[in-house]
Amino acid sequence: MRRSLSPVPDGVLNLCSNDYLGLVADQAWQEELRSSLVEPAGAGASRLLGGEHHIYAELEEAFSQFKGTEASLFFSSGYLANEAVVQTLARLDVHFFSDCLNHASIIDGCRLARLDRDRLTVVPHRDIDAFVDALKDSRASRRVILTESIFSMDGDAADLRKLCDVAGEYEALLVVDEAHAIGVFGRGGRGWLDEQGLPAGEIVTVNPLGKAWGLQGATVSGPRWFREALINAARPFIYTTGPSPWLAGAALLTLRRMPHWDDRRRRVRELAGRLRESLRCGNGDVGGGDSPIIPIIVGSAAAALDLSRHLLEAGFFCRAVRPPTVPEGTCRVRISLTAAVTDDQLECLVDAIRGWRPRT
Ligand SMILES: Cc1ncc(COP(=O)(O)O)c(C=O)c1O
Repeated sequence: MRRSLSPVPDGVLNLCSNDYLGLVADQAWQEELRSSLVEPAGAGASRLLGGEHHIYAELEEAFSQFKGTEASLFFSSGYLANEAVVQTLARLDVHFFSDCLNHASIIDGCRLARLDRDRLTVVPHRDIDAFVDALKDSRASRRVILTESIFSMDGDAADLRKLCDVAGEYEALLVVDEAHAIGVFGRGGRGWLDEQGLPAGEIVTVNPLGKAWGLQGATVSGPRWFREALINAARPFIYTTGPSPWLAGAALLTLRRMPHWDDRRRRVRELAGRLRESLRCGNGDVGGGDSPIIPIIVGSAAAALDLSRHLLEAGFFCRAVRPPTVPEGTCRVRISLTAAVTDDQLECLVDAIRGWRPRT
Protein backbone atom coordinates (compact mmCIF):
# COMPACT_ATOMS: atom_id res chain seq x y z
CA MET A 1 0.00 0.00 0.00
CA ARG A 2 3.04 2.27 0.13
CA ARG A 3 2.61 5.34 -2.04
CA SER A 4 5.29 6.88 -4.20
CA LEU A 5 5.61 9.80 -6.58
CA SER A 6 6.37 9.33 -10.24
CA PRO A 7 5.80 11.51 -13.29
CA VAL A 8 3.64 10.22 -16.11
CA PRO A 9 5.99 8.13 -18.29
CA ASP A 10 6.75 9.49 -21.75
CA GLY A 11 4.82 8.11 -24.67
CA VAL A 12 1.72 6.95 -22.81
CA LEU A 13 -1.73 8.51 -22.66
CA ASN A 14 -2.42 10.05 -19.26
CA LEU A 15 -5.86 8.95 -18.09
CA CYS A 16 -5.39 10.06 -14.49
CA SER A 17 -5.70 13.76 -15.12
CA ASN A 18 -8.82 15.72 -14.21
CA ASP A 19 -8.08 18.09 -17.09
CA TYR A 20 -11.53 17.25 -18.48
CA LEU A 21 -11.61 19.99 -21.12
CA GLY A 22 -8.02 19.39 -22.20
CA LEU A 23 -6.90 22.88 -21.15
CA VAL A 24 -3.66 21.81 -19.42
CA ALA A 25 -2.64 19.91 -22.54
CA ASP A 26 -3.58 22.77 -24.91
CA GLN A 27 -0.34 24.63 -25.74
CA ALA A 28 -2.12 27.57 -27.41
CA TRP A 29 -4.31 28.11 -24.36
CA GLN A 30 -1.33 27.83 -22.01
CA GLU A 31 0.45 30.50 -24.07
CA GLU A 32 -2.59 32.78 -23.87
CA LEU A 33 -2.68 32.37 -20.10
CA ARG A 34 1.02 33.15 -19.83
CA SER A 35 0.75 36.31 -21.87
CA SER A 36 -2.03 37.69 -19.71
CA LEU A 37 -0.54 37.13 -16.26
CA VAL A 38 -1.48 39.71 -13.65
CA GLU A 39 1.42 40.86 -11.46
CA PRO A 40 2.57 40.16 -8.78
CA ALA A 41 3.22 36.44 -8.51
CA GLY A 42 2.77 36.37 -4.74
CA ALA A 43 0.15 38.08 -2.58
CA GLY A 44 2.75 39.04 0.04
CA ALA A 45 0.59 38.26 3.04
CA SER A 46 -2.73 36.92 4.19
CA ARG A 47 -5.56 38.81 2.52
CA LEU A 48 -6.62 40.14 5.92
CA LEU A 49 -3.16 41.50 6.66
CA GLY A 50 -1.62 43.27 3.66
CA GLY A 51 -2.22 40.76 0.90
CA GLU A 52 -5.52 41.94 -0.61
CA HIS A 53 -5.27 42.58 -4.40
CA HIS A 54 -7.88 44.03 -6.78
CA ILE A 55 -7.84 40.92 -8.93
CA TYR A 56 -9.47 38.85 -6.17
CA ALA A 57 -12.54 41.10 -6.03
CA GLU A 58 -12.80 41.08 -9.82
CA LEU A 59 -12.64 37.30 -9.92
CA GLU A 60 -15.09 36.88 -7.05
CA GLU A 61 -17.61 39.28 -8.56
CA ALA A 62 -17.43 37.54 -11.95
CA PHE A 63 -17.67 34.12 -10.34
CA SER A 64 -20.77 35.11 -8.37
CA GLN A 65 -22.45 36.23 -11.58
CA PHE A 66 -21.43 32.98 -13.26
CA LYS A 67 -22.87 30.84 -10.45
CA GLY A 68 -25.86 33.10 -9.83
CA THR A 69 -25.03 33.75 -6.19
CA GLU A 70 -24.68 36.89 -4.09
CA ALA A 71 -21.03 36.43 -3.24
CA SER A 72 -17.89 34.33 -3.66
CA LEU A 73 -14.56 33.96 -1.87
CA PHE A 74 -11.35 32.73 -3.51
CA PHE A 75 -9.19 30.12 -1.74
CA SER A 76 -5.79 28.59 -2.53
CA SER A 77 -7.25 25.12 -3.03
CA GLY A 78 -10.44 23.11 -2.96
CA TYR A 79 -9.06 21.17 0.00
CA LEU A 80 -8.74 24.33 2.08
CA ALA A 81 -12.08 25.65 0.85
CA ASN A 82 -13.94 22.54 2.01
CA GLU A 83 -12.20 22.57 5.38
CA ALA A 84 -13.02 26.24 5.74
CA VAL A 85 -16.70 25.76 4.94
CA VAL A 86 -17.15 22.95 7.45
CA GLN A 87 -15.14 24.64 10.22
CA THR A 88 -17.01 27.89 9.80
CA LEU A 89 -20.42 26.26 9.90
CA ALA A 90 -19.38 24.14 12.88
CA ARG A 91 -18.93 27.35 14.86
CA LEU A 92 -22.60 28.11 14.28
CA ASP A 93 -23.51 25.01 16.25
CA VAL A 94 -25.04 23.01 13.43
CA HIS A 95 -25.69 19.30 12.87
CA PHE A 96 -24.06 17.98 9.67
CA PHE A 97 -25.45 15.24 7.42
CA SER A 98 -22.68 14.07 5.13
CA ASP A 99 -22.61 11.53 2.27
CA CYS A 100 -20.26 8.68 3.21
CA LEU A 101 -18.27 9.03 -0.03
CA ASN A 102 -17.56 12.72 0.38
CA HIS A 103 -14.01 13.87 -0.33
CA ALA A 104 -11.24 13.70 2.29
CA SER A 105 -11.24 17.50 2.61
CA ILE A 106 -14.87 17.44 3.81
CA ILE A 107 -14.07 14.57 6.18
CA ASP A 108 -11.01 16.40 7.51
CA GLY A 109 -13.09 19.56 7.98
CA CYS A 110 -15.42 17.50 10.20
CA ARG A 111 -12.46 16.02 12.08
CA LEU A 112 -10.85 19.40 12.69
CA ALA A 113 -14.15 20.74 13.97
CA ARG A 114 -14.16 17.78 16.41
CA LEU A 115 -17.72 16.88 15.51
CA ASP A 116 -19.11 14.04 17.58
CA ARG A 117 -22.09 11.82 16.79
CA ASP A 118 -24.50 14.41 18.13
CA ARG A 119 -23.39 16.78 15.44
CA LEU A 120 -22.36 14.59 12.52
CA THR A 121 -24.38 11.90 10.77
CA VAL A 122 -22.67 10.07 7.93
CA VAL A 123 -25.31 8.94 5.47
CA PRO A 124 -25.06 6.00 3.01
CA HIS A 125 -24.01 7.04 -0.46
CA ARG A 126 -26.68 8.98 -2.43
CA ASP A 127 -29.39 7.60 -0.16
CA ILE A 128 -32.07 10.27 -0.07
CA ASP A 129 -34.33 8.28 2.27
CA ALA A 130 -31.46 7.96 4.73
CA PHE A 131 -30.93 11.73 4.61
CA VAL A 132 -34.64 12.22 5.32
CA ASP A 133 -34.67 9.75 8.21
CA ALA A 134 -31.59 11.32 9.78
CA LEU A 135 -32.94 14.85 9.40
CA LYS A 136 -36.32 13.82 10.82
CA ASP A 137 -34.61 12.45 13.93
CA SER A 138 -32.51 15.54 14.45
CA ARG A 139 -33.47 18.02 17.13
CA ALA A 140 -30.70 20.45 16.18
CA SER A 141 -31.78 24.01 15.53
CA ARG A 142 -29.47 24.32 12.49
CA ARG A 143 -28.74 21.63 9.90
CA VAL A 144 -26.34 21.29 7.00
CA ILE A 145 -26.31 18.71 4.19
CA LEU A 146 -22.84 18.06 2.73
CA THR A 147 -22.46 16.39 -0.66
CA GLU A 148 -20.33 16.32 -3.76
CA SER A 149 -22.20 16.85 -7.01
CA ILE A 150 -20.16 14.42 -9.14
CA PHE A 151 -18.38 11.99 -6.83
CA SER A 152 -14.64 11.92 -7.41
CA MET A 153 -13.94 8.20 -7.21
CA ASP A 154 -17.20 6.80 -8.61
CA GLY A 155 -18.16 9.43 -11.17
CA ASP A 156 -21.83 9.17 -10.19
CA ALA A 157 -23.99 12.17 -9.39
CA ALA A 158 -25.93 13.42 -6.40
CA ASP A 159 -29.64 13.93 -7.02
CA LEU A 160 -29.49 17.60 -6.18
CA ARG A 161 -33.14 18.22 -7.02
CA LYS A 162 -34.24 15.79 -4.34
CA LEU A 163 -31.58 16.96 -1.89
CA CYS A 164 -32.71 20.52 -2.46
CA ASP A 165 -36.32 19.58 -1.67
CA VAL A 166 -35.18 17.72 1.44
CA ALA A 167 -33.08 20.69 2.52
CA GLY A 168 -36.10 22.96 2.04
CA GLU A 169 -38.43 20.69 4.00
CA TYR A 170 -36.08 20.30 6.96
CA GLU A 171 -34.67 23.83 6.85
CA ALA A 172 -31.14 22.65 6.16
CA LEU A 173 -28.41 24.53 4.35
CA LEU A 174 -27.19 22.58 1.31
CA VAL A 175 -23.41 22.59 0.67
CA VAL A 176 -22.31 21.14 -2.68
CA ASP A 177 -18.74 20.39 -3.73
CA GLU A 178 -18.71 20.92 -7.51
CA ALA A 179 -15.06 19.85 -8.00
CA HIS A 180 -15.76 17.41 -10.83
CA ALA A 181 -18.71 19.26 -12.33
CA ILE A 182 -17.67 22.89 -12.60
CA GLY A 183 -16.62 23.47 -16.20
CA VAL A 184 -18.05 20.15 -17.39
CA PHE A 185 -21.79 20.33 -16.70
CA GLY A 186 -24.41 23.06 -16.79
CA ARG A 187 -24.86 26.02 -19.12
CA GLY A 188 -21.44 27.30 -20.03
CA GLY A 189 -19.87 24.96 -17.46
CA ARG A 190 -21.74 26.37 -14.45
CA GLY A 191 -21.84 22.97 -12.75
CA TRP A 192 -24.20 20.19 -11.79
CA LEU A 193 -26.62 22.41 -9.87
CA ASP A 194 -27.18 24.35 -13.06
CA GLU A 195 -27.42 21.13 -15.11
CA GLN A 196 -30.25 20.07 -12.81
CA GLY A 197 -31.99 23.40 -13.37
CA LEU A 198 -31.52 24.57 -9.79
CA PRO A 199 -30.87 28.17 -8.83
CA ALA A 200 -27.73 28.41 -6.68
CA GLY A 201 -29.11 31.34 -4.62
CA GLU A 202 -29.27 29.94 -1.07
CA ILE A 203 -26.96 26.99 -1.72
CA VAL A 204 -23.26 27.07 -0.82
CA THR A 205 -21.02 25.62 -3.53
CA VAL A 206 -17.32 24.83 -3.41
CA ASN A 207 -15.80 25.17 -6.89
CA PRO A 208 -12.24 23.84 -7.13
CA LEU A 209 -10.39 25.10 -10.21
CA GLY A 210 -7.71 22.40 -10.42
CA LYS A 211 -9.75 20.06 -12.59
CA ALA A 212 -11.74 21.10 -15.69
CA TRP A 213 -10.36 24.64 -15.26
CA GLY A 214 -6.81 23.38 -15.51
CA LEU A 215 -5.60 25.71 -12.75
CA GLN A 216 -5.51 25.63 -8.96
CA GLY A 217 -7.52 27.29 -6.21
CA ALA A 218 -11.26 27.30 -5.53
CA THR A 219 -14.13 29.65 -4.96
CA VAL A 220 -16.82 29.24 -2.37
CA SER A 221 -20.03 30.79 -3.73
CA GLY A 222 -23.26 31.42 -1.88
CA PRO A 223 -25.18 33.99 0.17
CA ARG A 224 -23.37 37.16 1.22
CA TRP A 225 -23.68 36.34 4.95
CA PHE A 226 -21.70 33.17 4.38
CA ARG A 227 -18.82 34.99 2.68
CA GLU A 228 -18.71 37.30 5.70
CA ALA A 229 -18.69 34.30 8.03
CA LEU A 230 -15.78 32.72 6.13
CA ILE A 231 -13.72 35.90 6.21
CA ASN A 232 -14.24 36.13 9.94
CA ALA A 233 -13.99 32.52 11.02
CA ALA A 234 -12.32 30.30 8.41
CA ARG A 235 -8.82 29.52 9.60
CA PRO A 236 -7.73 28.17 6.15
CA PHE A 237 -8.58 31.64 4.82
CA ILE A 238 -7.33 33.83 7.66
CA TYR A 239 -4.01 32.19 8.46
CA THR A 240 -2.53 31.69 5.01
CA THR A 241 -0.95 33.86 2.33
CA GLY A 242 -3.50 34.97 -0.29
CA PRO A 243 -3.54 32.84 -3.45
CA SER A 244 -1.15 33.96 -6.17
CA PRO A 245 -2.59 36.97 -8.07
CA TRP A 246 -1.23 35.22 -11.20
CA LEU A 247 -3.61 32.41 -10.45
CA ALA A 248 -6.55 34.75 -9.80
CA GLY A 249 -5.91 36.45 -13.16
CA ALA A 250 -5.72 33.10 -14.94
CA ALA A 251 -8.96 32.02 -13.24
CA LEU A 252 -10.69 35.20 -14.43
CA LEU A 253 -9.51 34.68 -18.00
CA THR A 254 -10.62 31.05 -17.91
CA LEU A 255 -13.99 32.08 -16.50
CA ARG A 256 -14.54 34.51 -19.38
CA ARG A 257 -13.68 31.83 -21.92
CA MET A 258 -15.56 28.99 -20.19
CA PRO A 259 -18.98 29.55 -21.88
CA HIS A 260 -17.32 29.17 -25.30
CA TRP A 261 -16.12 25.62 -24.71
CA ASP A 262 -19.38 23.74 -25.27
CA ASP A 263 -17.63 21.68 -27.97
CA ARG A 264 -15.10 20.41 -25.40
CA ARG A 265 -17.86 19.66 -22.89
CA ARG A 266 -19.84 17.74 -25.51
CA ARG A 267 -16.75 15.86 -26.63
CA VAL A 268 -15.67 14.63 -23.20
CA ARG A 269 -19.20 13.56 -22.31
CA GLU A 270 -19.61 11.75 -25.60
CA LEU A 271 -16.31 9.90 -25.06
CA ALA A 272 -17.36 8.97 -21.53
CA GLY A 273 -20.71 7.65 -22.76
CA ARG A 274 -18.99 5.51 -25.41
CA LEU A 275 -16.42 4.09 -23.00
CA ARG A 276 -19.04 3.20 -20.38
CA GLU A 277 -21.27 1.61 -22.95
CA SER A 278 -18.43 -0.50 -24.39
CA LEU A 279 -17.27 -1.67 -20.97
CA ARG A 280 -20.78 -2.45 -19.77
CA CYS A 281 -21.28 -4.67 -22.84
CA GLY A 282 -18.35 -6.69 -21.53
CA ASN A 283 -20.17 -6.95 -18.15
CA GLY A 284 -17.62 -4.74 -16.42
CA ASP A 285 -18.53 -2.87 -13.25
CA VAL A 286 -18.09 0.78 -14.18
CA GLY A 287 -20.44 2.37 -11.65
CA GLY A 288 -23.31 4.69 -12.59
CA GLY A 289 -23.52 8.22 -13.94
CA ASP A 290 -22.39 9.86 -17.15
CA SER A 291 -19.42 11.92 -16.02
CA PRO A 292 -15.88 11.70 -17.45
CA ILE A 293 -14.84 9.67 -14.38
CA ILE A 294 -15.12 5.96 -15.09
CA PRO A 295 -14.10 3.55 -12.34
CA ILE A 296 -13.32 -0.03 -13.34
CA ILE A 297 -14.10 -1.72 -10.07
CA VAL A 298 -12.20 -4.99 -9.71
CA GLY A 299 -12.31 -5.68 -5.94
CA SER A 300 -8.88 -6.43 -4.57
CA ALA A 301 -5.85 -4.14 -4.46
CA ALA A 302 -3.80 -6.79 -6.28
CA ALA A 303 -6.29 -6.95 -9.15
CA ALA A 304 -6.41 -3.17 -9.46
CA LEU A 305 -2.61 -2.98 -9.58
CA ASP A 306 -2.53 -5.75 -12.13
CA LEU A 307 -5.03 -3.98 -14.40
CA SER A 308 -3.14 -0.71 -14.02
CA ARG A 309 0.12 -2.46 -15.05
CA HIS A 310 -1.59 -4.17 -17.97
CA LEU A 311 -2.92 -0.83 -19.24
CA LEU A 312 0.48 0.80 -18.86
CA GLU A 313 1.98 -1.90 -21.07
CA ALA A 314 -0.72 -1.06 -23.61
CA GLY A 315 0.19 2.65 -23.47
CA PHE A 316 -2.37 3.98 -20.96
CA PHE A 317 -1.48 5.53 -17.63
CA CYS A 318 -4.28 4.96 -15.11
CA ARG A 319 -3.64 4.47 -11.44
CA ALA A 320 -5.05 1.86 -9.13
CA VAL A 321 -7.13 3.39 -6.33
CA ARG A 322 -7.13 1.50 -3.04
CA PRO A 323 -8.31 1.95 0.58
CA PRO A 324 -8.51 4.28 2.39
CA THR A 325 -9.29 6.37 -0.70
CA VAL A 326 -12.11 3.93 -1.56
CA PRO A 327 -13.89 1.38 0.67
CA GLU A 328 -12.33 -2.06 1.19
CA GLY A 329 -13.25 -4.54 -1.57
CA THR A 330 -13.94 -1.82 -4.15
CA CYS A 331 -10.41 -1.25 -5.45
CA ARG A 332 -10.44 0.10 -8.94
CA VAL A 333 -8.65 1.66 -11.79
CA ARG A 334 -10.05 5.14 -12.13
CA ILE A 335 -10.11 6.48 -15.66
CA SER A 336 -10.71 10.16 -16.20
CA LEU A 337 -11.22 11.18 -19.79
CA THR A 338 -10.40 14.51 -21.35
CA ALA A 339 -11.76 16.18 -24.46
CA ALA A 340 -8.33 15.71 -26.06
CA VAL A 341 -8.66 11.90 -26.30
CA THR A 342 -9.07 10.78 -29.91
CA ASP A 343 -11.49 8.15 -31.27
CA ASP A 344 -8.58 5.84 -32.06
CA GLN A 345 -7.18 6.15 -28.55
CA LEU A 346 -10.58 5.33 -27.08
CA GLU A 347 -10.91 2.24 -29.25
CA CYS A 348 -7.45 1.00 -28.27
CA LEU A 349 -8.29 1.61 -24.61
CA VAL A 350 -11.46 -0.46 -24.85
CA ASP A 351 -9.52 -3.28 -26.54
CA ALA A 352 -6.82 -3.15 -23.86
CA ILE A 353 -9.35 -3.30 -21.01
CA ARG A 354 -11.24 -6.14 -22.64
CA GLY A 355 -7.98 -7.98 -23.21
CA TRP A 356 -7.07 -7.98 -19.52
CA ARG A 357 -6.89 -11.39 -17.84
CA PRO A 358 -6.10 -11.04 -14.12
CA ARG A 359 -2.72 -12.55 -13.24
CA THR A 360 -3.64 -12.80 -9.56
C1 LIG B 1 -14.45 16.21 -4.66
C2 LIG B 1 -13.21 16.96 -4.40
N1 LIG B 1 -13.26 18.04 -3.59
C3 LIG B 1 -12.18 18.77 -3.31
C4 LIG B 1 -10.95 18.44 -3.85
C5 LIG B 1 -9.75 19.25 -3.48
O1 LIG B 1 -9.54 20.21 -4.45
P1 LIG B 1 -8.06 20.78 -4.68
O2 LIG B 1 -7.35 19.78 -5.52
O3 LIG B 1 -8.29 22.09 -5.35
O4 LIG B 1 -7.44 20.93 -3.34
C6 LIG B 1 -10.84 17.37 -4.72
C7 LIG B 1 -9.56 17.04 -5.35
O5 LIG B 1 -8.90 16.13 -5.17
C8 LIG B 1 -12.00 16.59 -4.99
O6 LIG B 1 -11.94 15.52 -5.78
